[in-house]
Amino acid sequence: DKGGHKHFMAKEIAEQPSVIGEAIRHYMSADGNSVALPGDDLDFTAIDRLTMVACGTAFYACLTAKYWFEQLAQLPVEVDIASEFRYREPPITPRTVALFVSQSGETADTLAALRYCHEKADQIVSVVNVPESSIARESDLALPILAGTEIGVASTKAFTCQLTVLLMLALKAAEQRGTITPDRLADLLAHLRALPNTLNHALDQNAATERAARKLAEASDVLFLGRGLMYPLALEGALKLKEISYIHAEAYASGELKHGPIALIDNALPVVVMAPRDTLFEKTVSNMQEVLARGGKVLLITDAAGAAEAASDTWETIVLPQVDPVLAPILYAVPAQLLAYHTAIAKGTDVDQPRNLAKSVTVE
Ligand code: F6R
Repeated sequence: DKGGHKHFMAKEIAEQPSVIGEAIRHYMSADGNSVALPGDDLDFTAIDRLTMVACGTAFYACLTAKYWFEQLAQLPVEVDIASEFRYREPPITPRTVALFVSQSGETADTLAALRYCHEKADQIVSVVNVPESSIARESDLALPILAGTEIGVASTKAFTCQLTVLLMLALKAAEQRGTITPDRLADLLAHLRALPNTLNHALDQNAATERAARKLAEASDVLFLGRGLMYPLALEGALKLKEISYIHAEAYASGELKHGPIALIDNALPVVVMAPRDTLFEKTVSNMQEVLARGGKVLLITDAAGAAEAASDTWETIVLPQVDPVLAPILYAVPAQLLAYHTAIAKGTDVDQPRNLAKSVTVE
């Protein structure tokens, strides 16, 4: 049942405010003052490393979470693609928590990586959408993301629910490790409670995104740029676009632009810049200027403050609500998804069932 939408993907994008709200309530204490995990045996003070392993979109959720765990909880994090991790046979110290993220819970490489960590890591934790899956069953602690069944092959609501649960886990780690002040924790939890409403405002940008997507559909290549927390999101935006519109897209950390990809810039290569008005904004804008100076076309995704400062020469601008920078990846995922969706519609591709892809990759 597509719930009145043309595609499951559209339905699943639209469901995000409610499923994320559900996940936030599930992982918040009754008084709303702290993060509550099922089972209180996960002790982030007893470990000195977090190793996160996943594939595809779930891997990008892990890359995002690395910034959160490092900045909020001062915990060193290693992130790896499951198919690389499992064959590299990396050393795992006993003071490591190994964390596996998987929507299906059945991805062959992720499951093999998990089995490799058995008996080696302090604890095996998974963040999954399917609680009865192999990955959930073989973990010491399985944390559900509560996204509900995801049918569209391109992951949308599972990604943002993964991000939400990983952020709350990072907040728990920060609380346990004493690396966050009670005021800042209360502040971020309040922002999390407000997030479903903020996401609704991001969904209101559907028409602006559709307009931008019609232009994007003419391109044969698209470059995505982002810094800090927006870098993994740029990777996810590029993956979404290539999966369902078949347009070649790649993503770079903005600071890497002049180390190579700037050679590609011309007026045929749209550049999607994801940049909320945060502390890194000026730096991203200067990278954007480098693109504009070479005749490049910039699609800027920012907030009102960012648009006021930088939107004058852009090709298109999508304006999102102002949000605490820590939560920005969850919000900025929405226009990345809508952009891919509307570009695919403009190209007439099969949105829910893109060619060559399977929803669950149970073979290597
Ligand atoms: C992208 C996508 C894939 C999956 C990847 C991992 O839209 O859906 O990249 O994220 O195959 O799948 P799970 O999360 O089931 O392990």
